[in-house]
Amino acid sequence: MRVDFSRTIVSDPTILQTCLDSICAIENSTFNRPWSRADFFQEINDVNSRILVLLNENQLRGYLFSRLAVDEISINKLCVHPDFRGRGFGKALLCELFDRNCKRCRSVFLEVDSQNIPAVSLYTGAGFSVIRVRKKIYANGADALEMVYKFPRRS
Ligand SMILES: CC(C)(COP(=O)(O)OP(=O)(O)OC[C@H]1O[C@@H](n2cnc3c(N)ncnc32)[C@H](O)[C@@H]1OP(=O)(O)O)[C@@H](O)C(=O)NCCC(=O)NCCS
Repeated sequence: MRVDFSRTIVSDPTILQTCLDSICAIENSTFNRPWSRADFFQEINDVNSRILVLLNENQLRGYLFSRLAVDEISINKLCVHPDFRGRGFGKALLCELFDRNCKRCRSVFLEVDSQNIPAVSLYTGAGFSVIRVRKKIYANGADALEMVYKFPRRS
């Protein structure tokens, strides 16, 4: 069997629109309280949004939605298709955000369920650290970790 690990990460708004159905399918299969199609549509049309989708074998495998505010980025959604996790796609999306959208940023913020081991490991491994713990925020009783990545001072 030939496994194609090649991937392309795109942010073109026209392509994003065509990915909406696939995004919603992955979203609905992953989250208990998924974003709606209207939520994604709104994000795609927001000038402050910074969105990346990862394609592999011409199929959508993952997406990252973030927002830029002055010199800070907030990651609001990062998800990889359930059948394609553990292949480096999540890390690739995160790295691409840093490379493509964080040139003038001082920090990147996000919030994650403390019991979400894959996500916490991904963020910790990428250099994020916990700045605040919000107790028992999620329906499962888990804490929310607020995490930040701070870029070294740039001249
Ligand atoms: C979190 C998520 C995006 C990771 O994407 P992924 O493509 O599976 O992750 P990658 O293969 O790129 O792995 C990157 C790192 O994540 C961590 N990781 C991934 N899967 C893991 C697992 N099952 N257990 C522990 N750590 C894991 C590891 O640190 C890994 O680095 P390594 O390969 O050097 O060990 C993916 O699991 C997902 O979509 N989860 C559901 C949605 C979600 O929880 N999103 C985050 C909300 S804040």
